[in-house]
Amino acid sequence: MRIPFVAANWKMNKTLPEALEFLNAIRGQLPPESEVESLICAQSLFLSQMLFATSDQPLKIGAENVYWKDSGAYTGETSPKALASLGVDYVIIGHSERRKYFRETDEMINNKVQAVLKNNMLPIICVDETMGQREANEKVHWVVSQVIEALKGVSPEEAQKITIAYEPSWAIGTAAATAKQAEDGCYLIRQTIADMFSDECAEQVRILYGGSVKPNNQAELMAMPNIDGVLVGDASLDPAIFLKLVNYQ
Ligand code: G3P
Repeated sequence: MRIPFVAANWKMNKTLPEALEFLNAIRGQLPPESEVESLICAQSLFLSQMLFATSDQPLKIGAENVYWKDSGAYTGETSPKALASLGVDYVIIGHSERRKYFRETDEMINNKVQAVLKNNMLPIICVDETMGQREANEKVHWVVSQVIEALKGVSPEEAQKITIAYEPSWAIGTAAATAKQAEDGCYLIRQTIADMFSDECAEQVRILYGGSVKPNNQAELMAMPNIDGVLVGDASLDPAIFLKLVNYQ
């Protein structure tokens, strides 16, 4: 049984006071983790204090990116070892915005996946699909190849702990994919995991949809058989809307 997963990606938004004010506004109103797993991924600047502020709440705190070396002369980067030492649970890896603006490659994303697993944290691997690739009927190739490349060198035991987010960039910050389009992408990812590892492993992996998720489209999306949760940007920045998203059942 895969526990439903509602994850926020705050991106480069909020200040630390605003983040702490948000956590105060949602305090005591989150569902039990046995029903819905709730996660907020924020700028690394905030994580230590966000973890402290939520230590008694059923809310996980995650990072939005990480480097793949634990230490060294890598100015400005964030160490996975240091993140893990804070108590960070999840790390978003390979978001389409990092591929687009920061030229992240499949190899870099795979390095990050391995480093996060080595430090006993849980990767949320983002799989992109541009409108150009969709219109050129390259969706299958592009989605499948990203999953294969991201999971190189990952064992079946590790793979089943991973979350993968199908996040077609043509749906980010615009209009969401239809539930059918989202399900098709998530089904493709699950089949790729089954082919790479096993059906049992594929059944364990949680697959999220991301791209303009709002309270008014969330239930239809999460009713789909291969969509275990959502990764939400803009709508997650408002505490009242975030509470609607995590309390959707
Ligand atoms: O990682 C999730 C994000 O890219 C989706 O953004 O604003 O379309 O919900 P948004």
